[in-house]
Amino acid sequence: MSTPHNAANIGDIAERVLLPGDPLRAKHIAETFMEDVKLYTDIRNVYGYTGKYKGVPISVQATGMGIPSFSIYVHELINVYGAKKLLRVGTCGGMHEDAKLRDVIVAQGVTTDSSIIHQVFGGAVNYALIANFNLLEKAVNNARKLNMSVEVGNIICTDRFYNDYDDINGVFGDGKRSLNEKLVQYGILAVEMETAALYLLTAEAGVQGLGIFTVSDQLLTHERIPSHERETTFNDMVKIALETAIED
Ligand code: HPA
Repeated sequence: MSTPHNAANIGDIAERVLLPGDPLRAKHIAETFMEDVKLYTDIRNVYGYTGKYKGVPISVQATGMGIPSFSIYVHELINVYGAKKLLRVGTCGGMHEDAKLRDVIVAQGVTTDSSIIHQVFGGAVNYALIANFNLLEKAVNNARKLNMSVEVGNIICTDRFYNDYDDINGVFGDGKRSLNEKLVQYGILAVEMETAALYLLTAEAGVQGLGIFTVSDQLLTHERIPSHERETTFNDMVKIALETAIED
């Protein structure tokens, strides 16, 4: 059985899955790091592959950008195909001075402007979206083993890449701070667009989820990783995710 979005049959997808947004990154991960690779879906050119990393079965499924696209693939991975450990590997915009260009950010918690929590819980509670601690602890240890600079903390998952958070002045009473500055004051490290859905869907199903990112652009300094460097920086983060995914 397949789904309208995924051509895989039951059993084609491993319990351990890496989740890049970009289909070509999924292809790159499969071809660079995995053995015995099989493409199980190319519906909409959103590729998914299963292979082995150090002898352990593992899949890599592209998700597209943003919560709605991501949620479709990840809901099906968990509820149709039985995924148990799901690791998003992506890029983020560094907001905090501690989130430097090329740093690895591990999302311990996710704050969001999306309505998805409200859609699930109504207005009753503000559910706290958190990483699975088993994956979080292992990812941090693996990053240190690989000698990588890693920051762990809260991030914001936004529905609008082109939002106005730098312009919203004065709404907090002091007439000075933008919403971005207020978020940074409260410890938000970085911005991306999918991980609220990962932590909500994995919590719902009682499976493990973690978001790992490289800072591809820094909002304070306006720096960007040059395109020729993107692949190496991305590869280092993928190694952390793969090593973490294959542990128990
Ligand atoms: N905003 C939102 N998502 C992102 C960004 C950003 O600046 N960079 C990488 N993903």
